Amino acid sequence: MTQIIALAGSLRSQSYNKTLVKIAAKGAEEQGANVVYVDLADYPIPLFSEDLEAEGTPAAVNDLKSLFAQSQGMLIASPEYNGSISGVLKNVLDWLSRPSQGVGIGSAFDGKVAGIMAASPGGLGGLRGLGHVRDILNNLGTIVSPKQVTVPAAYGAFDDDGGLVDAELEQRVKALGAQVASMASRLNNK
Ligand SMILES: Cc1cc2nc3c(=O)[nH]c(=O)nc-3n(C[C@H](O)[C@H](O)[C@H](O)COP(=O)(O)O)c2cc1C
Repeated sequence: MTQIIALAGSLRSQSYNKTLVKIAAKGAEEQGANVVYVDLADYPIPLFSEDLEAEGTPAAVNDLKSLFAQSQGMLIASPEYNGSISGVLKNVLDWLSRPSQGVGIGSAFDGKVAGIMAASPGGLGGLRGLGHVRDILNNLGTIVSPKQVTVPAAYGAFDDDGGLVDAELEQRVKALGAQVASMASRLNNK
């Protein structure tokens, strides 16, 4: 079965991006994928340092990397910080891009499929950061869907059930999840 990781680059409990990526995850599940939702707050990952790495990759990194290695695709909702990717997300991508116990250097990202999205209180919805997320994932060998979704004015965009007030926008988020699941499944069956 095709497995997709869904995560947000935020540690915040009430994160808009966590809510957003769960909507995309539903779209992937409706397409038949097994989605593993990852809350980065559950993974105590230190700031990357080659000195730390030389002492041994942290267990939380190895756990997360194994999950990625077993998956064919990923859904990533990235907060925009100062026009770019959040430090939390960049730190995780950096750790996971490194070789570690039993899991090779390219195993987390190379040849996988990704769907990217962002939610922000601002008017652009985190659009400026997504270009950077796309570049980083491409650099790691991941095929990033040309579709991407942003949710501006996020403070009023979500309803109490974790959906989007704008039904058409919610459909686009789910369609992105479904597309990633479908592309990942085709790669998986090759
Ligand atoms: C350090 C910092 C920088 C930020 N820079 C931007 C920015 O450039 N563009 C933007 O739309 N929002 C920016 N924001 C606001 C975030 O979009 C907002 O905090 C959002 O809720 C974060 O995502 P989350 O809800 O998933 O945690 C920034 C927030 C912080 C803390």
